[in-house]
Amino acid sequence: MCGIVGGIAQRNVVPILLEGLKRLEYRGYDSAGLAVINNFELYRKRELGKVKELEALLHADPISGTIGIAHTRWATHGKPSTANAHPHVSGNKIAVVHNGIIENYEQLKTAQLAQGHEFTSQTDTEVIVHEVFNALQGANNLLDAVKHTVRKLEGAYALGIVNADEPDVLVACRKGSPLVIGVGIGEYFIASDVAALLPVTQRFIFLQEGDVAALHLDSVEIYDALDQVANRPIIESQLSPDAVDKGNYRHYMLKEIHEQPFAIAQTLEGRFINNRLQENSFGHNASEVFDNIKAVQILACGTSYHAGLVARYWFEELARVPCQVEVASEFRYRKPVLAADTLIVTISQSGETADTLAALQEAKKLGAKYSLTICNVPESSLVRESDLVLMTRAGPEIGVASTKAFTTQLATLMLLVIAVGRRFHLTGQTEQKMTAQLFRLPGEIEKVLQLNGAIKRLSEQFAEKQHALFLGRGAHYPIAMEGALKLKEISYIHAEAYPAGELKHGPLALIDADMPVITVAPNNSLLEKLKSNMQEVSARGGQLIVFMDETLVPVAEGNIQIIKVPQVENEISPILYTIPLQLLSYHVAVLKGTDVDQPRNLAKSVTVE
Ligand code: G6P
Repeated sequence: MCGIVGGIAQRNVVPILLEGLKRLEYRGYDSAGLAVINNFELYRKRELGKVKELEALLHADPISGTIGIAHTRWATHGKPSTANAHPHVSGNKIAVVHNGIIENYEQLKTAQLAQGHEFTSQTDTEVIVHEVFNALQGANNLLDAVKHTVRKLEGAYALGIVNADEPDVLVACRKGSPLVIGVGIGEYFIASDVAALLPVTQRFIFLQEGDVAALHLDSVEIYDALDQVANRPIIESQLSPDAVDKGNYRHYMLKEIHEQPFAIAQTLEGRFINNRLQENSFGHNASEVFDNIKAVQILACGTSYHAGLVARYWFEELARVPCQVEVASEFRYRKPVLAADTLIVTISQSGETADTLAALQEAKKLGAKYSLTICNVPESSLVRESDLVLMTRAGPEIGVASTKAFTTQLATLMLLVIAVGRRFHLTGQTEQKMTAQLFRLPGEIEKVLQLNGAIKRLSEQFAEKQHALFLGRGAHYPIAMEGALKLKEISYIHAEAYPAGELKHGPLALIDADMPVITVAPNNSLLEKLKSNMQEVSARGGQLIVFMDETLVPVAEGNIQIIKVPQVENEISPILYTIPLQLLSYHVAVLKGTDVDQPRNLAKSVTVE
């Protein structure tokens, strides 16, 4: 993964690079570094830890330059360390920052070692910079050397490269990893994501697969994968630079949990006329596409995958639409059989998840004619590569643990179920019911957020626990999975989710007083079954924590604690029950003193396999 920033300007670029890195920390934050050219000399600073550590280093020992590149890392090859931090350098002249993975690096490294190159890191990236160094011996300039180098690279890369002997050019290229060019006035920048550059420009060029670009102060030249001059349009971003403020909240995650009522209202905004969902919200030819499809295949990773799992219950139960859901990293290599006229639905907060993108491409190779993405980032790769798009409109999500992106994905999926379901067995009455529930949802979430105090008190029992089990049934089973994922991500407590009916087939053996069992218990047709599962836990001395519909009476004897959740209708209930589980993991993490917004070893946007 990792985040890249670079710039060529008439002013010192170091503060711009640092600000850009901070905005890219969601892509990785185990070490950071930057390199600038000043008076034909290359200056480089790198530091283990977050960008603020690099900033402190630069404060103590400043460097400056009008051209430079910078990087925040999420380790793939080689542990987090200063030596492995980017930029990597060859011959004290050339520096490179890289996002992606070079798959043939071992082969290149063997050849370079034989040529006498010395390696100072364990990264795959270092071979790139030595390769550029080699290529420069026979090339006219850095641009030609980079073009030559990328032909030898296998894998995924977005690169920013500078040469101390050519301080008037920054070379950038991409294949398989994202990279945008920011167009300023008499200055140009590169970054992994537009958000990094919003303080300096709102005008962007999106590089295509295989593009190589040379950025000068007053111009940019772009060559496509066939080395032909390419004209890429400049696109104006609608994002505002200060959308990423923590406000009065202690953590982004808490802020984002509380933003959910507003975020869902935004999701619904303008998509209905007279309470009827407008299908052109998905794209101008959406109705035509929906008329033709016979099944839905959802592809996603992490939290987004859980949203897909909930949607499967809605698609099949409410509308009888055949729906499959698969983790993108499995689908892409499984050689799946796709039924004719399947709509491929990708779900992704970032729109840049490498596995999800590759799974979409694989589906297209397998003959899929229709694709739709549910995404939160308008300028992202998935949005650009899909026929139809429904934006979640959650606003920027900074906390690595996804919260408002998930619930807006669910609301968006419900819109899709309505639109597609109309062609299947979704009745007008159910459609009206779902629509009414969706519009009530922001208010219902406000009510659930009132449980914050009670959940905070409950979390005190968790701080010492090593493990937790989450149970749910039906559409609330994926909600239990999401609850378990949240807890493990940010509190590092081992958590697993089970469909409650599976308890007796193994996990029951784990039950004792030290194993909290968190159960999602809405008042629905599966409640009686769930009650029996809870009895099984109680009877074995387990500690039950039940998020339960307020209208129900306690269901089991013994060590049981109940958090009463306001009563809601069936369809939107999974969205509501997500909120208390988010709050629970948040408070447990705060008590444990972990890094809530940037948990160890993780990153928000995973642009490598
Ligand atoms: C990472 C994030 C998760 C996210 C997953 C999929 O693992 O930490 O929060 O659910 O990627 O990301 P996407 O952007 O495709 O939803």
